[in-house]
Amino acid sequence: MTTTADIKQICRQAPMIPVLVIGEIEDAVPMARALIEGGLRVFEITLRSDCALGAIERIAKACPEALVGAGTLKAAHDVDDCINAGAVFGASPGSPAPLVEKVLDAGFPFLPGCVTPTEAMALFDCGFEVLKFFPAEASGGVKMLESMISPLPDVAFCPTGGISLENAKHYLKLPNVITVGGSWVAPSGLIAQKDWNAIRKTANRTCEELLCVQS
Ligand code: 3PG
Repeated sequence: MTTTADIKQICRQAPMIPVLVIGEIEDAVPMARALIEGGLRVFEITLRSDCALGAIERIAKACPEALVGAGTLKAAHDVDDCINAGAVFGASPGSPAPLVEKVLDAGFPFLPGCVTPTEAMALFDCGFEVLKFFPAEASGGVKMLESMISPLPDVAFCPTGGISLENAKHYLKLPNVITVGGSWVAPSGLIAQKDWNAIRKTANRTCEELLCVQS
């Protein structure tokens, strides 16, 4: 299925996926450039601020080398909004049926959120082979994902929620973890301070340390 093939390909290009909250639309492009210069060109702009769709649109136009995704999709109408803004993939903390149906209908590369084996099995049956494991640390973390390797060998995960540069290495060593996501590279505070240099440096260090452990 196209949705699955595309999202796998996107995740494989990301040692990690920064999860971003943009408060001011003017920050979108400089922040994206800092991440790209630091080596991270796949990132997720969450629909948690009023300017999120505008930020995606600006980045998609100004940074063709970026693979800009939309995060925190909750409703079916979010899918059209994100596609129209130029997002090349989406992610959600969960997987409500109307959202999942719309994503499949649109053929939109997507990371549906899940925590339990039952949710993972249901999503796999719908055609999703890569799932967002959220909130990762609060839901059993590395041990929980390790427990799913044997019974669900065909399911890959992108854990997010509580991931840091240090614990990311433990996740990435698991064969069922394709990449990880998190806000540590560009937390809202650094974006609000417009500290593009700090974001570039953290992205660069993150790339150097994670690329060698990613399976
Ligand atoms: C997400 O949506 O994936 C999380 O908000 C990121 O979680 P973190 O801030 O703990 O990295």
